[in-house]
Amino acid sequence: MASLTHPQLVILSGAGLSAESGVATFRAADGLWEGHRIEDVATPEAFMRVPGLVQHFYNLRRAGLKTVEPNAAHRALVRLEKAWPGGFLHVTQNVDDLNERAGAARLLHMHGQLKKVRCTDCRAVLGWEADLEVTTPCPECEQVGKLRPDIVWFGEMPYYIAEIMRALETVDIFLCIGTSGVVYPAAGFARLAAEKGCQRLIEVNLDPTSISSHFTERRHGPASIEVPRLVEELLAYSVAS
Ligand code: APR
Repeated sequence: MASLTHPQLVILSGAGLSAESGVATFRAADGLWEGHRIEDVATPEAFMRVPGLVQHFYNLRRAGLKTVEPNAAHRALVRLEKAWPGGFLHVTQNVDDLNERAGAARLLHMHGQLKKVRCTDCRAVLGWEADLEVTTPCPECEQVGKLRPDIVWFGEMPYYIAEIMRALETVDIFLCIGTSGVVYPAAGFARLAAEKGCQRLIEVNLDPTSISSHFTERRHGPASIEVPRLVEELLAYSVAS
């Protein structure tokens, strides 16, 4: 554990962080996105079977980013990042760019990013704003049909696991925002942090989740209200301690 004056803070965020910006969550209400089961558009098997459908699904979501803006919760987390006196790491499962647009820098996208694509042939990873078609050639190796969204699908290994595990070794405050806690390994981070000695684990969510019992504090409400309030409390606590 780090010194009390320089506490290590790790944040895990999920779809609930961006919900009030207008980005659809994964498991709200009927658990469907755009009329598809997640498994039909978010697996490597789906991409092999129906690449056009999968590309279309992510094209819609990438284009949708142009219509949304960061909300008060994204902005509060950036305030926290800038003012926090100790170690800070924000791990997001979200594939949108709202944290960056709010000014986040110490951010890891463990499930990839909508605005990146990668080539399954030459392995180039490229920034991407436009639609992706099955006929789009890779700008690096010029192969056709090899570009895919740089999204971690079900059955694939999330990014940055080594860095995240390292951060969880010494975390003093673990803050989890807007995730249902059903997708591993992210769903296991709170428990892991507690096992490593983290004493303060805070969950912010509209509702209790399947991992709520791993937290020492639970705050139920919209992220845009609860996160700014919590950020002010954490900053006051860090100054006082
Ligand atoms: N404020 C706080 N929490 C909210 C809000 C809000 N305004 N709106 C929704 N939530 C909560 C919901 O109660 C739910 O617990 O956010 C959570 C969203 O859960 P999911 O839709 O399951 O999203 P997430 O947990 O991010 O999904 C994890 O699953 O499909 C994969 O890779 C995908 O990254 C995703 C992962």
